[in-house]
Amino acid sequence: MDIFEAEIKSLRDELNRHNYNYYVLNAPTISDKEFDEKMKRLETLEAEHKEFADPLSPTQRVGSDLTPGFAQVEHERPMLSLSNTYSIEEVEDFIRRTKSALHDEGNLQIVGEMKFDGTSISIIYEKGRMVRAVTRGDGIRGDDVTVNVKTIRSIPLVLQGNDYPDKFEVRGEILMPWKSFDELNKEREYNEEPLLANPRNAAAGTLKTLNPAEVARRGLDAYFYYLLGDNLPFTTHYDSLSALRKWGFKVSDAVRLMSTVEEVKQFIDYWDVERKKLEIATDGLVFKVNDFRQQRFLGNTAKSPRWAIAYKFQAERALTKLKFVSFETGRMGVITPVANLEPVLLSGTVVKRASLHNEDIIRQLDIHDNDYVYVEKGGEIIPKIVGVDKSKRCGTSKPIEFVKKCPVCGSTLVRNEGEAAWICPNRYGCRPQITGKIEHFVGRKMMNIDGIGEETVEQLYSVGLVKNIADIYNLTYDSLTLKGGIGELTAKRIIRGIETSKSVPFERVVYSLSIPNVGETVAKKLAFATGSMDALSSSTVDELVSIDEIGETIAESVVSFFKEQRNIDIVNRLKEAGLQMAVSETAKAAVSDRLAGKSIVISGVFEHHSRDEYKKLIELNGGKNTSSISKKTDFVFAGANMGPSKLEKAKALGIPVVNEDEFLKMIEQ
Ligand code: IVH
Repeated sequence: MDIFEAEIKSLRDELNRHNYNYYVLNAPTISDKEFDEKMKRLETLEAEHKEFADPLSPTQRVGSDLTPGFAQVEHERPMLSLSNTYSIEEVEDFIRRTKSALHDEGNLQIVGEMKFDGTSISIIYEKGRMVRAVTRGDGIRGDDVTVNVKTIRSIPLVLQGNDYPDKFEVRGEILMPWKSFDELNKEREYNEEPLLANPRNAAAGTLKTLNPAEVARRGLDAYFYYLLGDNLPFTTHYDSLSALRKWGFKVSDAVRLMSTVEEVKQFIDYWDVERKKLEIATDGLVFKVNDFRQQRFLGNTAKSPRWAIAYKFQAERALTKLKFVSFETGRMGVITPVANLEPVLLSGTVVKRASLHNEDIIRQLDIHDNDYVYVEKGGEIIPKIVGVDKSKRCGTSKPIEFVKKCPVCGSTLVRNEGEAAWICPNRYGCRPQITGKIEHFVGRKMMNIDGIGEETVEQLYSVGLVKNIADIYNLTYDSLTLKGGIGELTAKRIIRGIETSKSVPFERVVYSLSIPNVGETVAKKLAFATGSMDALSSSTVDELVSIDEIGETIAESVVSFFKEQRNIDIVNRLKEAGLQMAVSETAKAAVSDRLAGKSIVISGVFEHHSRDEYKKLIELNGGKNTSSISKKTDFVFAGANMGPSKLEKAKALGIPVVNEDEFLKMIEQ
């Protein structure tokens, strides 16, 4: 073996082991720094020796930020669901029924385990390597989300040991741990995006995100609970779980082998309390017949196996009095109604406030002033009002009315057709909208101006130094310290931060402007498609909607933003201040429309660039990456080792196959 190949192999093994120690066992044995160094070394070696590329290398966990779209795949075995109950008696019934159906009373073992509250996944492994990961979908067909699943570090890409079956399927639950969930929602709150109700929705949404890099960032985790395959070398579910654990999968330690109703009841009592301490959401327990032979004998109904039952926990709920509803104005003018409650203890925290989201939710709940309301935290971190105890309502109470005027500036609110939110239209005169936009502008993902936070913005606005984002570039050390009341050190930091912000790339400048409906991803798309502020600001709706993934709402919002003289003035001032107003030369060099409208399937290993780089090049040149070959494919871009089935399919459909040199010629500037 080549010495580089040997080093690559040994680094991959080592990094896989450290990933396992860290993400599965929660017991790292090396420092993050050492880990990063090894990863860097492997990345360098792989870049220099493309012939040893492996899509399952630990370096491939970061995900690329492309939008591959998902192919639909038929499950090899249908993914059934579980029959549910909220009652312990029904669980006892299930055990009794099962025993009598099996006719061998003494011989029934039940495995009790956690019911994870995430989104289910089926993964196929062949020869110890991940082949395909598919969502449940409708149980028969699901989405091939392998690119995203690969970024979840607790899921093995390559298995440990060597006693695994040649081919098997494993099922489990992809979860978003509470900590990641909280962080994500904080970010969404800041961006005034609707908050995710619970970690289950967050996990499911993330897994379907068309951007593996974003998936990698969101900190998903996974637990596995079901092994399937032909001729498995086990006779029981319990043994198969132990084997999964040994091969590197995360299997819960809560799994317990039981044989009496008493034990089952104890298991339920124990976890009903203990589950609240877990880092991930569970919504119940699952009880399964242990013996595979007995499972087969019991069989399935059309929807669920007869050998298993799920016991669901009651969501925690409390009754409390609504004191009043307040209305808050955000950066983009969205008015959020908030229920202010008599403090009540729920799942270990005191709840005083709960978002009511929008007018429609208030109507649906039919909530009146002074009502007693039910607050729930069933797998949701943000308490939710789920109902009203109408028997406690006093006869004269009135339904909660949504405000008609902005609670801060008094402007009459507007609600656009088809949207749930009421908006304060006074974008340039309403304080939280003004200061909110300035805070956004200086934020870490935008211009990243060090030294200015929420409080500083409020202060600089109050003294009249910064009334809009362009005013920031008129700040001086003297104005900050003398008029702004800012300390000397902070003032120096701010001035330095302002200078550095002048080299922040154009796409982030676009994002920092707070154009309605233009978030981070959209800003990037607009920036790369138009190339410069001049082009962006003079684009028509028609031109903008022709950009991939830009719809009418966004296009109209951009056009009306650049129609306003006030915005034009601000952008001109930013330009004079020296901000980046065009895509940088290096990024631009790669941009063209040579592949415009082309649907391209890329496959195999390449010599001059990595596959991810090529995918990016396809996008930058206007093409679209798709993952499976169909009649709509314009051509297949094939590297070495392309799968024979893909090649055959391309041939059968008469789709051209382009090699690396031909492709590079196609996009030559
Ligand atoms: S076994 C054929 N075990 O619950 C039964 N499912 O309501 C296969 N789930 O679709 C599922 N934790 O997404 C099983 N320990 C566990 C589970 C579990 C969560 C989910 C799974 C399934 C759903 C059924």
